[in-house]
Amino acid sequence: MSDVVELILADHRRFEQLLQGLREDDTDHASLRSELAALLVAHAEAEEDEVYPKLRRAASTAHDVEHGEEEHAEINQALLAFLELTELAGDSYASTLGKLAEVVDHHTEEEEETLLKDATENLAEAERERLGVAFIASRKARLDADCGRLENVRLLVQQTAGRLG
Ligand SMILES: [Fe+2]
Ligand SMILES: [Fe+2]
Repeated sequence: MSDVVELILADHRRFEQLLQGLREDDTDHASLRSELAALLVAHAEAEEDEVYPKLRRAASTAHDVEHGEEEHAEINQALLAFLELTELAGDSYASTLGKLAEVVDHHTEEEEETLLKDATENLAEAERERLGVAFIASRKARLDADCGRLENVRLLVQQTAGRLG
């Protein structure tokens, strides 16, 4: 299975599982946080590299792509605050996690209703398969480079600071 829409949806469901695990008390918050950070960054960058450019070619979705990129930058900013926490329990932990969950949930929901819906309706199955292979390769390269580490997320936030105005 390499339909790019299915692959992206599967990651979105994984984000939800990881966020839920981070809300629970009897889980390993440090390891869940590392996994979520890596997956969020690898997923968004692979979308921007391999999927969004293909969708931008339709005039109607150009706006959705730009909006999606702004939301990726917002997610990185909320993720950075979460990665900077040294105490992985308590009020500050809960509020920082809550903010991250809010921007991630908002973005995935909107992406599913706009860009992914458009991809399902307007891209041929063979093209969705081709994009899926490219998405997975780009995502893997970033995971292999440990893209969710604090210094890298800090760098990404600095690079995209201008986008948020
Ligand atoms: Fe996504
Ligand atoms: Fe996205």
